[in-house]
Amino acid sequence: MNFETTMKPNEPSRTALVPARQRAAHQLLDHGAILYDPFAIKILREDEREVLQFARAHPLASIGRLFTAARSRIAEDALSAALQRGIRQIVILGAGLDTFALRNPHGACEIRIYEVDHPATQAWKRERLAEAELALPPGLVFVPVDFERDDLGEMLLAAGFQPNSPAFFTWLGVVPFLTEEAIAGALDYVASIHDSEVVFDYMEPPQAFSEELRQIEKARAEQLEKMGEGSATRFEPAGMAGMLRSRGLRDIEDISFHEIRSRFGGDIQGLPPGHAGLHVVHARH
Ligand SMILES: C[S@@+](CC[C@H](N)C(=O)[O-])C[C@H]1O[C@@H](n2cnc3c(N)ncnc32)[C@H](O)[C@@H]1O
Repeated sequence: MNFETTMKPNEPSRTALVPARQRAAHQLLDHGAILYDPFAIKILREDEREVLQFARAHPLASIGRLFTAARSRIAEDALSAALQRGIRQIVILGAGLDTFALRNPHGACEIRIYEVDHPATQAWKRERLAEAELALPPGLVFVPVDFERDDLGEMLLAAGFQPNSPAFFTWLGVVPFLTEEAIAGALDYVASIHDSEVVFDYMEPPQAFSEELRQIEKARAEQLEKMGEGSATRFEPAGMAGMLRSRGLRDIEDISFHEIRSRFGGDIQGLPPGHAGLHVVHARH
């Protein structure tokens, strides 16, 4: 499939608010049991903070809350292990309102964090960080990149990234919004960095979702399409594994929603039944 770029060039991603609100709701409802994030609420504007009403009105939203918290937790646990092994470069691809850089518990390790995002979303995030008087930590570098148009490697290099040193990449909640070409381009780059690691998530085709969730996912995709942020690309697990292996990525761990529910589901209040075709992947070069 070949879709035109899925974001409007001068507008921030409205989808970035969805996981940000889920992380905020996770603090309030689940006490941050999976992902403790004291900045999750602060990074929202006043009028975006009615996350509890939303969560109560839409009980199935807790499935999204589980997945969003769990994918960050999986990424951040893997990141801690990578830092212990000596990695000092972190690249957060499609960072949205992610707050890892603000919470970074490894500050003393002198790591560099490159937050890569669509230029309009990144400018919008920087505005709200300033409004909330959240100071930017040393070692944080913003790199505006449109994955559909720009050369990720060139932009990172210009920002000071060292392509000859290992790096840890996270890429959460982004793949379903990109074209296959942009996904392949970013994976090519990640795989070109020796000793690199990546954690990202992807979605299976609708048949992999249980009936109620499939309807919700369909409605969400239609709404995004109307907003000009089409949700385009789905993968079968075997196809994803092939894409990674063909690029020399190894030690591929593909964590299904079923595993995520059994590992973390007990930490989410009022989690209803239902299966989502969502996966988190951790792969190494
Ligand atoms: C659903 S949000 C996820 C944000 C964040 N990773 C999180 O988990 O909260 C999707 C992110 O992908 C980014 N994105 C979508 N299309 C993009 C593109 N063509 N180039 C760069 N970033 C893009 C958006 O700007 C947004 O930050």
